[in-house]
Amino acid sequence: MSQPSATKGRWRFRAILASWLLAVAAGLGWNGVRESLDDSPRAAKVPAPIDASAFAEVILPEGPHAEAFRVSCLTCHSSRLPLSQPTFGEARWTELVHKMVAAYGAPIAPDTEPKIVAYLLATQTGR
Ligand code: HEC
Repeated sequence: MSQPSATKGRWRFRAILASWLLAVAAGLGWNGVRESLDDSPRAAKVPAPIDASAFAEVILPEGPHAEAFRVSCLTCHSSRLPLSQPTFGEARWTELVHKMVAAYGAPIAPDTEPKIVAYLLATQTGR
């Protein structure tokens, strides 16, 4: 006995709807299982906010023009890079400071460059 095609269409629609609902239910169920397996509290996954004040003050060795060095040389990298170099002479430091301007675009006025060189010469420890 064959059914009229309108009835067939309705059954096909119900079958599709039912399998879709099942798929959604299975998805929700799996999510629940996954969450129940994961017993760490949700708050533990959120990283604690960074305390910016921890970075606000960099303690530098004292020396002439320390402020020029602080303002000019710590914006792109930490003080570690300049302060952990081997002992250099004035010519090498002059070249290096100028390299920061010429090659990397450091905004340092020409008359500030020798001040920074003086600071580097005075504070270098030759590590
Ligand atoms: C505009 C950004 C910027 C500023 C400002 C800056 N530097 Fe650099 N500096 C760099 C970059 C980029 C490097 C290369 C880093 C690397 O190779 O990992 C570098 C590397 C260095 C090095 C390692 C040696 C070398 O030749 O690569 C020293 C020493 C150094 N900087 C010193 C200084 C000093 C002193 C100042 C202040 C006068 C300064 N920097 C300011 C960007 C900057």
